Amino acid sequence: MSTNHTLKVSLGERSYPITIGRNLLRGGFGLADFVAGPDCLVVSNETVAPLYLDALLANLAGKQCTSVALADGEVHKTVATMHGILDKLVETGANRDTTLIALGGGVVGDITGFAAACYMRGVAFIQVPTTLLAQVDSSVGGKTGVNHPGGKNLIGAFHQPQIVLIDTDTLSTLPERELKAGLAEVIKYGAICDLGFFGWLEQNMQLLLDKDPDALAFAIRRSCELKAEIVAADERESGRRAILNFGHTFGHAIENCLGYGEWLHGEAVAAGMLMAAELSAMDREDINRLSALLNAAGLPTAPPPLRAEQWMQTMGLDKKVQAKQLRFVLLRELGDAYITAEYDATRLDQLTGAAA
Ligand code: NAD
Ligand code: GLY
Repeated sequence: MSTNHTLKVSLGERSYPITIGRNLLRGGFGLADFVAGPDCLVVSNETVAPLYLDALLANLAGKQCTSVALADGEVHKTVATMHGILDKLVETGANRDTTLIALGGGVVGDITGFAAACYMRGVAFIQVPTTLLAQVDSSVGGKTGVNHPGGKNLIGAFHQPQIVLIDTDTLSTLPERELKAGLAEVIKYGAICDLGFFGWLEQNMQLLLDKDPDALAFAIRRSCELKAEIVAADERESGRRAILNFGHTFGHAIENCLGYGEWLHGEAVAAGMLMAAELSAMDREDINRLSALLNAAGLPTAPPPLRAEQWMQTMGLDKKVQAKQLRFVLLRELGDAYITAEYDATRLDQLTGAAA
């Protein structure tokens, strides 16, 4: 892709651009224009900082920047890590006009956004996502937060960024397993709301796995367009936004029960999407298509062996639960998702082993 693309997340005074392109960090885009005050704190981690921090700091010339590198991994997505960022903000005398910049994957983005939501009751932040998963999903939409030992993302806030800057060149260093995990969320968009995109993914999966720049750019752009549209219509998930959680009720339970980081988020979501499809009253042919596409992306299509009590206990803390009643995102058919508390309980028991 030779030119940049800019999309908009339309949220009134909280609207912001998503700019997607190549070589953006190394001079192709002036991020400093989006830092309103004189200073910023760049939050990255010990893996990503050595790769891209210098480029980002050079891009921010003229701003007073400090940086912090977090320990890497889902296991560090905790209140304690978030507190470390708050300590750094206090230590450096950060004010209400300080901007936080998240440079990394979804873990760095979620923690940094949450720190920004909390510090002085809310300061500005910018997302510079460097994994496919973060570029197509977590950096967009303003969900920020950390895990609790009892459940995924239980502690957090809605806090929208000033801009999402997606430099697709950063994917050149992304390990294959992480690329595949990101593809799970890309497949999710096709499955929940865009059958045409699902078909495109069926045709182009190998190009994506080969990191073909044009194919990646298209998949990222389409994913962001779909997410921006859903978020603009339902910022705080009072309704339709919940479809973005297709597969996540099962997926979060897998991540929590195995121990954070054992299965990657995208891997858990992949297995979770197949479980949700199996719980849906939909044609076997559609379920097989979803399974085949996840397989083609090298993703798991079956959950690890958890006990029925483990499933039920963790799913009971799902954020979609209402009046103690589990709710699931199900598919009427591929490309058409909805949220419901009405599902086949016997089928759920079979899927979670409770019927054994
Ligand atoms: P991650 O942040 O752990 O990143 C994956 C790994 O890739 C890490 O080891 C990281 O250091 C490394 N990495 C990142 N960029 C790299 C690069 N360019 N080159 C080499 N290595 C790189 O995981 P993730 O998959 O990006 O994000 C998962 C997290 O996102 C989960 O915690 C999940 O809950 C969250 N999430 C949030 C939302 C949301 O709406 N806020 C949506 C989906 C997922
Ligand atoms: N990943 C789910 C959401 O942003 O709503």
